[in-house]
Amino acid sequence: MGNFTTFLWLFLNLLLVTRGFPADLLYDYENIGSFLNSADEVSSSEIKLKVPIVFYGQVYSSIFVNSNGLLSFQTDIPTFFNIEFPLDYPVIAPLYSNVDISKTGTISYYETSNADLIARASRNVHKAFSYSGDFLATSLFVATWSRVGYHRNGTDKLNTFQVVIISDGDDSFVEFLYPENGIQWIQGTGADSGLPDARAQAGFIGADDRFYVLHGSGTDQIKNIERWSNTDVPGQWIYRVGRIDSDANIEEPDTYNNVVDNTVPKSCEKGASQCHGFAKCIDHAEGFCCSCRELYYGNGKFCVKKDAPIRVNGKVNGEINGEKLSNLDLQSYIVMVDGRAYTAISKIPEPIAHSFQSLYTVGGLLGWVFAKPVADSVNGFQLTGGVFNQTATIIFKNTNHKVTIKQKGLGLDVYDQLRLDIELQGDIPQLLPEAKVNMDDYEEQFTLTGPGILQSSSAKSFTYNNLEGNSVTIEFSLDQSVIFDYCKYSAVPFLATCSTIATETPSASSN
Ligand SMILES: *[C@@H]1O[C@H](CO)[C@@H](O)[C@H](O)[C@H]1NC(C)=O
Ligand SMILES: *[C@@H]1O[C@H](CO)[C@@H](O)[C@H](O)[C@H]1NC(C)=O
Repeated sequence: MGNFTTFLWLFLNLLLVTRGFPADLLYDYENIGSFLNSADEVSSSEIKLKVPIVFYGQVYSSIFVNSNGLLSFQTDIPTFFNIEFPLDYPVIAPLYSNVDISKTGTISYYETSNADLIARASRNVHKAFSYSGDFLATSLFVATWSRVGYHRNGTDKLNTFQVVIISDGDDSFVEFLYPENGIQWIQGTGADSGLPDARAQAGFIGADDRFYVLHGSGTDQIKNIERWSNTDVPGQWIYRVGRIDSDANIEEPDTYNNVVDNTVPKSCEKGASQCHGFAKCIDHAEGFCCSCRELYYGNGKFCVKKDAPIRVNGKVNGEINGEKLSNLDLQSYIVMVDGRAYTAISKIPEPIAHSFQSLYTVGGLLGWVFAKPVADSVNGFQLTGGVFNQTATIIFKNTNHKVTIKQKGLGLDVYDQLRLDIELQGDIPQLLPEAKVNMDDYEEQFTLTGPGILQSSSAKSFTYNNLEGNSVTIEFSLDQSVIFDYCKYSAVPFLATCSTIATETPSASSN
């Protein structure tokens, strides 16, 4: 018997703006410089720089170009690590993604002190940073991904982007450039791990714990980096990365007041890019809403494929019966087609592991989020896109124990998995290890009590066998509210009655 416990629940849910781009956005890259081999997962050898690059206060005299959309210092990184930023090494990532140029595309690079290019880069720096007047670039390092395919051997969608490091040997700036129609794919087909590829990520990772990601990095919105900007040119992003104080981070331009266009557009013409890639934009009188396309479901900001299994990744914190819960992992696997969700939490402290069975309603929220929609009814994901704040109070009638649950849905992460933060506080009845819990089928009825507010109150019970073999019934009440953002321009959708039936007793197992 180990010193931790995994807990498993099993449920069956019954019902449940594009401006034109200057053609010369990119610095020269054709017929110039060195090329990476046409293969999957390749890196350059160490490239000695004539003028060093300063990055997060560190001075680097060499650099590596890696096929998966990043420049690295210290070491080459040919492998696509399917993880969310940060990585373990200092990198500059114009678009970290599972690039594969076995079939098509080129990746090239050069260092230059060409006077015209230097002048252009210095101008861009002066325009963006009011305090950079004294900066005169002496060298540029330019790397270009031109019409590159995706892992594996993907050639139907191609990406083009460029990174330019602008240095004077003492300070450095970086331009990320994404030409119009340059970002056609944001995710490879997945490695052999069974996990989908992380969505494309863009940003900077220092040699210490500091890192910085672009707006939309790792989300479906990353496709918009070619339309968005932190300058006045769509697709152009510029940052100061060099002499950064040890307590500071990468610097954005201070001269443009449209740093990332986050003014709220009023129509699809300007706003369609805010919809998910698998959503369409619908104009209403006062504004627009996003709506997932056929074969997908969600709230239009987040859409997932119908009938595809969903993974949920959560962290559980708090304190139950005086036992601290710190960063316990919650994993859930939801098979919507047959209305099942498997939820496991590890590692629950041993003293409360068995008693934890009385908290099975924690997993019930996921039952609502991914309930199988019937007729015109909608489930929690269609309403919220997985972004919500739930607060629930459970009161155990016989014993007066009380628990509050806070669950924060953070939407889909870089792998399309729903992120959940859960906090549990309070006391629950002590159940003996021998206790075999049986719970009744139950039904949850949510009522829309205000804009973006759902509430439900219910009384439930479960039974267990005590040491003497007698069946004991524990009654409890569950009051909960869910707050979510919604598109206020369209009619409020009809709400489903959703019943969640537990088909199997939760079991606690030690391993
Ligand atoms: C990808 O293309 C390369 C080069 O043509 C080939 O050797 C390899 O077998 C292909 N891989 C797959 C999975 O199709
Ligand atoms: C949830 O709560 C957080 C604060 O903890 C808040 O920033 C966020 O806007 C809330 N989300 C919704 C959808 O209301």
